[in-house]
Amino acid sequence: MRGRGNAIELGATQATDMMVLRREGLDRCAVAPLAVDGPFADMTVRLAPDDVPGRELPRLAAAVARRLSRPDHRVGPGAVLVTGLAAHFRPAAAREFHEDLFRAVWTEFRAGIPGGDREFRIKTGTVADGAIPEELYGSRWSFKDLHVDREVLLFSHLYGPVAGFAGGELLLVDVRPYLRGRGLGFADAFTWSSESTEGSKPVLRPEHCRSAVAECGVDVGPLGPDAIVFVNNMPDAGILHGVRPVEVTDAAAFRREYHRCSVKEVSP
Ligand SMILES: [Fe+2]
Repeated sequence: MRGRGNAIELGATQATDMMVLRREGLDRCAVAPLAVDGPFADMTVRLAPDDVPGRELPRLAAAVARRLSRPDHRVGPGAVLVTGLAAHFRPAAAREFHEDLFRAVWTEFRAGIPGGDREFRIKTGTVADGAIPEELYGSRWSFKDLHVDREVLLFSHLYGPVAGFAGGELLLVDVRPYLRGRGLGFADAFTWSSESTEGSKPVLRPEHCRSAVAECGVDVGPLGPDAIVFVNNMPDAGILHGVRPVEVTDAAAFRREYHRCSVKEVSP
């Protein structure tokens, strides 16, 4: 992926290249079009109890992809909650549905992005918060501060099982109006995560977190098996995600798992 003026051209690669693209993308957020109805308006898509999920897949995928997109005119919320899964699925089937929906959403989403004809790889798997392999990711815990992921362009999470803790609410911030309203660029508002593995991701500076959530954010709660959250994580989408602190209240019962689907470009 390479930045070129206002366009993002996919076609890259190394962690450091991605860091440059992330910085450039967030700088552009200060002058990017804003969501028409304000941050995260109309971000929920419901699966009704009498819907047949398989039959609804194309409708849901189109509704999600439309809300994820952030074009120059008619800017969508950039993040979507698909709710109503618990009425239809046991956990294993919900994960299958999640993956099917992610693939269908990605097919629609990529048709609308520059360089969408490049080669991409979808990754799916389950993350057990608190028990992530430290040797691979540098921490047993998923990253909680408000940030954008470095490599992936689109991701979705389906939480559950979840038990034995308090907190853990998922936060989303549309940083475009925040940067524009204050006249801030990347260097003013962001720093880089410190990681034991290669590369870093942009993290909102602590002094901006409270006001950014209050003015341009949403707390979607401690998600469980009823909902899937999708996030547009393209470099200039301007959608940050984070998690309120997780406090383990019952160590024996503690579980905080999420099934994650994501996509990134295959390095040439
Ligand atoms: Fe993340």
